[in-house]
Formats: sequence, C-alpha cells, structure tokens
Amino acid sequence: MTTTAGILAGLWMGTPVSAAETVPLDKLDLKPMTCGWQKPVVGKSMDGNPLRIGGQVFASGVGTHAASELNVILDGGAASFSAVVGVDDEVEGLGSVEFIVMGDGKALWKSGVMKGSDKGKKVEVNLTGVKSVSLVVTDAGDGINFDHADWAAAAFTVSGAKPKTEAVPGEEPVILTPKAGPAPKINGAKVVGVRPGRPFLFRIPATGERPMSFSAAGLPSGLTLDPATGIITGSVAARGSYKVELGAKNSLGAAVRGLRIEVGDRIALTPPMGWNSWNCFAHAVTADKVRRAADAFIKAGLAEHGWSYINIDDFWEVCPGSRDATLQGPERDAEGRILPNPRFPDMKGLTDYIHGLGLKAGLYSSPGPRTCGGCVGSFGFEEQDAASYAAWGFDYLKYDWCSYNGKAYDRSLAELKKPYQTMQKALAKQNRDIVYSLCQYGMGQVSAWGDSVDGNCWRTTGDITDSWASLSSIGFSQAGLEAYAKPGNWNDPDMLIVGHVGWGPALHPTRLTPNEQYTHISLWCLLASPLLIGCDLEQLDEFTLSLLTNDEVLEVNQDPLGRQAGRVAIAGKTEVWAKQMEDGSLAVGLFNRGETAATVTAEWSALGLSGKQVVRDLWRQKEIGEQDKAFAAEIPRHGVALVRIRPAK
Ligand code: GLA
Repeated sequence: MTTTAGILAGLWMGTPVSAAETVPLDKLDLKPMTCGWQKPVVGKSMDGNPLRIGGQVFASGVGTHAASELNVILDGGAASFSAVVGVDDEVEGLGSVEFIVMGDGKALWKSGVMKGSDKGKKVEVNLTGVKSVSLVVTDAGDGINFDHADWAAAAFTVSGAKPKTEAVPGEEPVILTPKAGPAPKINGAKVVGVRPGRPFLFRIPATGERPMSFSAAGLPSGLTLDPATGIITGSVAARGSYKVELGAKNSLGAAVRGLRIEVGDRIALTPPMGWNSWNCFAHAVTADKVRRAADAFIKAGLAEHGWSYINIDDFWEVCPGSRDATLQGPERDAEGRILPNPRFPDMKGLTDYIHGLGLKAGLYSSPGPRTCGGCVGSFGFEEQDAASYAAWGFDYLKYDWCSYNGKAYDRSLAELKKPYQTMQKALAKQNRDIVYSLCQYGMGQVSAWGDSVDGNCWRTTGDITDSWASLSSIGFSQAGLEAYAKPGNWNDPDMLIVGHVGWGPALHPTRLTPNEQYTHISLWCLLASPLLIGCDLEQLDEFTLSLLTNDEVLEVNQDPLGRQAGRVAIAGKTEVWAKQMEDGSLAVGLFNRGETAATVTAEWSALGLSGKQVVRDLWRQKEIGEQDKAFAAEIPRHGVALVRIRPAK
C-alpha cells in the first residue's frame, strides 16, 4: 500500500537533505527500553563506567543488558541510524550478544554473535521510508549472564519529525476465557499429598452460584469436611492412596469429581499455586497488606480455581541496616528464636486467619546471615527457625541463597547443597508439612539434585521482571529441564508478572502486552511451574483475572502426571512446546517470539502423533476441529495458541 509518508519518502530518496538533523539515541526518552537486568544507562555502561568496546571509549550512547529492546517511531522522516555496538569491556571478555536493527518488522542489520573480547562493529542503516525501528539485543542463545551491551555513539539522522520512543505496539486486552457458569463445577488439583499425621488442609475449588454445599465421600479416617465452606481439615495416620469423591451442589445442579489423597512421603504433587508478596510489595510488605491480599484472593474467586497459597517474601524480618523504624527491633530472643519486625506483630494470628479461609501460608528466609534484602537470615539458627515456622503455622518456605555466598568455600556441588541439607533436616523434624522452595537461581544444575535435599521446587534462573526480554529469555530457556520435573519436584522459572506489579510501594500495570501475557501464562502452565501471582490483588482487573482463572489452561499446569513440556520444534522465531497429559492427550503451545505475526505449525511427526486428531483451543475452551497431519495457526507478535490434542474417535 502506498501511503502519503511512503510517497514523500520516495520523493526524498536521492535528494540532498538540507535540513538533516542528528538526534543522539541517548537524548530520546529511554523509559520504554526493556533490559534483561537493571535499567539502561544514558551515556554510560551498565555498571556506570564510560562506554568502552574493544579498548575504544565513547562519549555518548546507551549501555543496556540483554535481552533488550527499544521501539522508535520515525513518523515519515527519512532517516538513517548509525552506531558502534559491542559488549562493554567492563565484563572482561565474558558475555555474548547479538545486536539487531529491525525496521517495520524486518531485520535491517544484524551484528552476528559478538563476544566480550570483540572489537566494536559499525552500524550504518538507511531508514528511508521506514516507519518504526526496534533496537534489539539478544542473549545470542546462551543466557544473559554478563551481557552488557553498548549502543555507542548511536544517533538517528532525520529530516522530518523527531524520532519518538514507544513502549510497544498497542494491543487491545482481549479476554478469551469464558465466564464460569452459575451451576457448580469442581476445578483444581486432582491429587494432593500429605505426610502421615501432619495437618491436612484442602479447600474444594468450585465455581458456581452461592450458596453451595459440599460433600466428600470416602475421606480417610482423621479428615472432616465443613459442608458449608468445602474446607477439609484433620490429619491421617495411615499411609495409603485414598480415592475421594468430592461433590458441590447449588440450586442449579450438582457436580462431582475425584480427588486422590496420597498419604506418604511426598508433598506438592502438583505445582503450588498461590500469591507471593515480592513482585508487588517487595520491601514494602506488611501483615496488613498480606491479610488484605488473602481477602482479595477469596473475593476475586481465585480459590475457586485451585489457587491456595498466600506467601510472604522478604522483609518480614528485622533489617539491621535499615533506617526504617518498622524494620528495626531485636533480631532474636534469648533462646535464639527469630523475631518478626514490627510490621508483623502476630505471625500465628496471621496464619490462623489465612488458614481460616481454607488457604495455606508461606514464608521466606536465607541460609546466609542476611537475606537478599539485607534482613536477618537463618545462618546458624536453622533449627530454631524451622521450629518457629512450624509453630507459627507456615506451610511453605522459600529459602534464598543470597548472603550464603560469603559462607560457601566454593561453588562445588557439596558446598551448594550444604545449606539446603541443613534446613532440610531442620524442617523434617517439624510436625508439619512445609513445601520446600529452593532459591539459588539454578547454580550447579539444581534441577538434578533438588529432590535429594527434599526440595519441592527450585528456581532455575535469576529474578524475572515485567518485560518481554526478561519473560522470554527466562521462559524459553527452560528447554531441557523437563527431565527433572515430576510430582513433588518442579522447576521454577520465577513468579508471575501479570497485573499491577512494582517491587515497592509504587505499582504500575505490567509492561507486558496482552499477547505476551497469554504467552507467559501458557508457557508457565506447560512448564508445570509453580504459579505464584505477583500482583496487587486489590487492583485485579478483569483481563488479569481472566488470565488466572481459565480452568482448562490451569489444568495443563495441574495435570497429575506431573510432566513438564519440552520444546519439540523451532523454526526461525517460532517454537512448538508439548506436554504429555495423564489422559494420553498432549498440551501444545505454538509460540511466536518474532516481531510480526507468523504462521506456526505443529507437525504430528514432531509431536509423535499420527492419524486424525481433535484440536481444542484451551483459552477459548472450544474445539477447533480435526486435523490429519499438523495443526497450524497464525500467531501474533509475541503471542501463543495453547491447544490440547487428542486422537479422534
Ligand atoms: C531474591 C529472590 C527474589 C526475592 C528477593 C527478596 O532476589 O530471587 O525472588 O525473594 O531476593 O529479597
């Protein structure tokens, strides 16, 4: 299509541009620039040094970190872009990245893989007629460690409107999840694990109009159900696999569904689902905010879809270095028992409140003397701390390496395991099941040994932030880890970043586009990842809620077989991931990591299938139809189609 801008640009081609103006990249508003670690730096490297590539120092430019992206609108001004790019010398030869200049969705220039020791590469791109440019830095496929990437001496030459940065191409948040009906329907996990004699708590997740009454036939001795709330409590002495039939009834009908209760050694038989305070409140968390989050969780109906944990992250402890009075106080009592900071005056009262709602409670600590936030850690007090968590009534512990760095002699496997074994032993002595969540960012291939220290889940990466760069580099780098996932053991690519997030008192709506959010939830469900909502639940909008309450999507995450999806095909920027489900069907994600829409094809041969198959769209909860050899779909930029494929009858 010829546009006015196109005609004008055509006229200008080859014509000397008298009013050409140079607009340095570092003079643009860089707020929309995404960055895989920290924030882009104007005129300096990531660590705040002068920009230096291959020994050459530059006075202007932008220091960023893979994966990074900036979209610039040129609005008809004929222009060119020039820069010198490379990995900054400050990482001393480490790191590897690729720089790409995209124009209207096409790659106009690519650096190829650049290593830390390479000399800078000169970029000179003609942008005549180009309407929008994206400056992209990828991790070159090997993770983002040390990827300090410089766009040095970078500038646009324009003769029309000034370049303007923009967050991302605008997208409408289209809700695909159908609304739950008024008749009862039971959702959530189909299997739960509990150790003999340990407190059991399960709230039957059911959608439908209230009032509703509940039943549970075949409960093992020791458990009782409150028929009005659907909350099952008690404890079971005898080991065994108990088949229970849950029922939910209202004036419009009745629903039944099986629940297997496994009384044995293993817990967290499906990935834990809940909320954690970090990605919204971070250091600003208080007991009151946690209580309100629990109320909002119930009010939003999340428990009706199987969500069950309310987890407190860092900053419930005293933080010795802080000037904030609400973070000060005695660290421990005379017996060495840890004392919460003044924001958490009554831990037992708080977990009683959470348990009263039929939900479970989680807490955070570090094996080092200090947590990542600089608060009191468990080093040397592991026994007392585990006893306190149990006495307070916590059901989940995230144990975050952090300052243990200063205690470990080296990064040998023995040293990496040691602090987790110490807490493992301390937890095992408590008369309470506490889900053990290891957080050490994947060091020493934790997936391979997390189970040996009784870890139920383990972080496989650094911290996530609400950018496509962060989400996609973390999510898609999980390929291969599927070998280690099974009931009771889950790889954890970090918490969810949909809704209002912000890591402190000031929150903002997630910077992910709607399609990126569909990708996030679809991928985390396929990965059988723990699902911990990271947003302010009191500001939950309809779109975010729809992402978190699609029972057919959540079923992919909670499938009792406990498999994790693996990548089965990759073509350019498109990928197909598949997860084996207990009923013999496959959950399949068709992803487009590219900047423009693309057709993605899931071939039966890649999925190990043959013959006629029925394809169901899980977000829309609708049958798409039968296919013989493959399923193909047009997938938007950074989007996904999540389907379930079963043999046709
Ligand atoms: C680390 C973890 C985060 C969070 C903070 C708390 O960065 O990876 O998830 O727990 O510590 O300080």
